[in-house]
Amino acid sequence: MSKSLLQFIIEEQRNIPGATGDFTGLLNDIVSACKQIAHDVNKGALIGVLGSAGSENVQGETQKKLDVITNEIFIKANEWSGHLAAMASEEMDDIYPIPAQYPKGKYLVTFDPLDGSSNIDVNISVGTIFSILRCPEGVTEPTAADFMQPGTKQVCAGYALYGPATMIVLTTGHGVNGFTLDRDVGDFFLTHPNMSIPADTAEFAINMSNRRFWEEPVQRYVEECVKGKDGGREKNFNMRWVASMVAEVHRILTRGGIFMYPFDTKDPTKPGKLRLMYEANPMSFIVEQAGGLSSTGRGRIMEIVPSGLHQRVPVILGSKNEVERVVGYHLEG
Ligand code: AHG
Ligand code: MN
Ligand code: MN
Repeated sequence: MSKSLLQFIIEEQRNIPGATGDFTGLLNDIVSACKQIAHDVNKGALIGVLGSAGSENVQGETQKKLDVITNEIFIKANEWSGHLAAMASEEMDDIYPIPAQYPKGKYLVTFDPLDGSSNIDVNISVGTIFSILRCPEGVTEPTAADFMQPGTKQVCAGYALYGPATMIVLTTGHGVNGFTLDRDVGDFFLTHPNMSIPADTAEFAINMSNRRFWEEPVQRYVEECVKGKDGGREKNFNMRWVASMVAEVHRILTRGGIFMYPFDTKDPTKPGKLRLMYEANPMSFIVEQAGGLSSTGRGRIMEIVPSGLHQRVPVILGSKNEVERVVGYHLEG
């Protein structure tokens, strides 16, 4: 039998001088949240969790019942154990400070409890994304300002993918490892050690319906992919769009590819769709740790100093040579 996720983390922790076990405890709570979410997502209509909640989140998006339920599950699993000082989620306007009755810890977590939630009612893969930061030294009552750390400061990032199998993929800055849930045993086991993204690919992912709103460099790149063997690249490309970032990133980690949700002019108040703190940064950390690249087109995503919890950024990530090409087109323009 392969290693359990917990064994893997404890063994990793032994290599970190001065580690107290706090981080292991935190990750264990996150894993337990993901197991509970996997359960609810898997039961679906049987337990009445599909459909709309009839409410809107801070970003003006209609919340699904499961957006609300999974947010609650994540909070409940993580607030009590003394590893966190505060949390921030896609589904909450402001940060969630740890309630007074619980001890406070030295970490902060940002999360997207249910990524790809437009897919939930049609039974297509969804996920959970998380990013762990250190609470600044000496801060016991963190505010949103304490979360405004660039992605390079992440201690750990990961996602759970609720697909045909439930998986957790994570990095602590020493490569990327994937674990699969054995439902009978109730634990995740290491099934995908040292995941790495091939530098070259012939597969791109973008929402083509936004084509008329893209900037010239993205128009040019996609045009070349679509022309295939008959165009300048002299190579055929395949296209995928799941509309669950977790599923797209997992595909790219498995067989390569490029994923783009680039800057567009569709809504002038939104410079891209994906959120920096709980989508773009954690996925960028994972992708870079697997040998890929992640950029806005004009700069490395993980170097952005955040200005808001729900800030949006353009995202271009995946196989190194393709991302470099798209970035090159931006720099030429
Ligand atoms: P969420 O469900 O957490 O709001 O995120 C959905 C995101 C992302 O997962 C996906 O890549 C993208 O939105 C899909 O957007 P379109 O519907 O515009 O294709
Ligand atoms: Mn999302
Ligand atoms: Mn979400």
